[in-house]
Amino acid sequence: MKANDGIEINHLGTNNTLVRVTGNARYLLLPIEEKVDDARINVLLNGKIDKTINARLARNKVDYYVPLDLTPYNGNPILLDVATSQDRTTVREASEDACWRKIQLSDTFDTTNREKYRPLYHHTPLYGWMNDPNGMFYKDGVWHLYFQHNPYGSKWQNLSWGHSTSTDLINWTPEPEALEPNGLGMVFSGSCVVDKDGTAGFGKDAIIGLYTSADATQQQSLVWSDDNGETLHFYSGSPVVTLDSEARDPNMFWHAPTQQWVMLLAHALDHEMLIFTSPDLKNWTLQSAFGKGLGAQDGVWECPDLFELPVEGTDEKKWVLICNLNPGGVFGGSATQYFVGDFDGKKFTVDTLADGTVPVKWMDHGKDHYATVSFSDAPDNRRTVIGWMSNWQYAAEVPTMQFRSANTLPRDLTLTKGNDGEYWLKTVPSPETINLRGKRVLSVKSQNIGASGKKYNLPTENDGVCEILLTLDARNAAQMTLSLSNARGEHVDMAFDPASQTFTFDRTESGVTDFSQDFPAVVWAPTLRDSSVQQLRIFIDRSSIEIFDGEGSFVMTNLVFPTDPYNTLTVRSQGGNGQVKDLEIFTINLKK
Ligand code: FRU
Repeated sequence: MKANDGIEINHLGTNNTLVRVTGNARYLLLPIEEKVDDARINVLLNGKIDKTINARLARNKVDYYVPLDLTPYNGNPILLDVATSQDRTTVREASEDACWRKIQLSDTFDTTNREKYRPLYHHTPLYGWMNDPNGMFYKDGVWHLYFQHNPYGSKWQNLSWGHSTSTDLINWTPEPEALEPNGLGMVFSGSCVVDKDGTAGFGKDAIIGLYTSADATQQQSLVWSDDNGETLHFYSGSPVVTLDSEARDPNMFWHAPTQQWVMLLAHALDHEMLIFTSPDLKNWTLQSAFGKGLGAQDGVWECPDLFELPVEGTDEKKWVLICNLNPGGVFGGSATQYFVGDFDGKKFTVDTLADGTVPVKWMDHGKDHYATVSFSDAPDNRRTVIGWMSNWQYAAEVPTMQFRSANTLPRDLTLTKGNDGEYWLKTVPSPETINLRGKRVLSVKSQNIGASGKKYNLPTENDGVCEILLTLDARNAAQMTLSLSNARGEHVDMAFDPASQTFTFDRTESGVTDFSQDFPAVVWAPTLRDSSVQQLRIFIDRSSIEIFDGEGSFVMTNLVFPTDPYNTLTVRSQGGNGQVKDLEIFTINLKK
């Protein structure tokens, strides 16, 4: 079909155009140019607004297309009433916009991955913008991941819940869009639970979701599903929780000791988490608020979570309250802090240090880990989390186009009591990540590393995506460093310093960094282990590096955009002779 076949375009004014779709096709492809302002598109069926889309309709050139799905209209003609906000002096000028020449009907929408920075084994949306993971739950062998999604562009807009499912936590299948904006506003973040006893009245094992309807204000809306989360229906009694101040991202769970549902809501500007309880997921009572004046307080508090975890090696259990905040994160912008304490079903009481203060604890010490929350009902009492692998400082500017943003690998959490008497989260890659291991391309049992260092080749297949396992033994060295580099001189430098017990990551010369002044950065993590031996597990994808301490004491997640993939790993030691031990490099098993 040629551009404009089956489409009639009528320019009514400098900023108003009507597009009548008379032809038959699966999609109307809208041409997008990222640099221009949004046009407001009312999609009319028989004169009634069916939906409103905000899209950056192309003016000068087409960066990419987004599909408007026409199947719901069953071949009935629709009318797009388009209001642009560009400066125009004549209608003629408006009619020359690239979008009017390029808009077209099509039975297909090409989602082939053509982008060099699109991850090969991390979850990404099929196309369009993504931020927070939402409503994650596990049921009958299937992991469900909804996410903040813009189906009409790769910048934050038209927030909907995209949906993907997986049976192995690694390979994700794209599902139809689960929730789209409605009269109460956009679909912001929220959670889902499996209502095993049917307390909400939608049947046993119904999936119940609660999300923030965001318009002029933010209110909490309920959705339900009787087909395992495939279709989410809007509950007509929504919103079920209303407040006259900014509150969002409801996170629900069943509290067995008190036989009730609990929900945390981020009281964003007040820097506190509100705690509600309910017998039926519809009627919620405010019980307490946690957080005023505690922990990192900058920016807004968002995306809470609360769960109980066993303390390793003891019979003890403690509660962990997750608080994502932005800006004000450990290295600027977005980050995830957590609090450890107790929860009685109504109130969270945080542990304090001997002097009565509450330490600030970060879940991940990279720059690109945000909105992290856990799956409801994960099997075997697992507490499995996934984060959004970006930072609000530059999320909209990263050098990708057809899609924007990926999720972290799934991670499993436990708690440990440190030598300092404090409880710390331990984060390890979920056991399923072992299945990512392909060919072992290098295996070195033990090697002395002098100041000049040792070089190892990284795999070249699949743009060098790989997993590196190694132990740095710095018992006879002051410091050991790792570099990932390519022939263009781009490099990422990491340093293990046993004296200060820190691990540092420097991406200032990692490749493309100039899209934001906040991107080039040096970040560091406390290793939290009194040891000169550091075990590491490193996952490299096309535009991300996740580094896990071998036992989970620290983790850091950072984006990188090398012009060519890194092909060399260099290990050096300073102030003595360090050793590399148990170095193994694996290619990644990619879905065929
Ligand atoms: C966090 C957040 C949430 C909100 C969503 C909107 O990244 O700001 O608080 O629900 O993103 O997309």
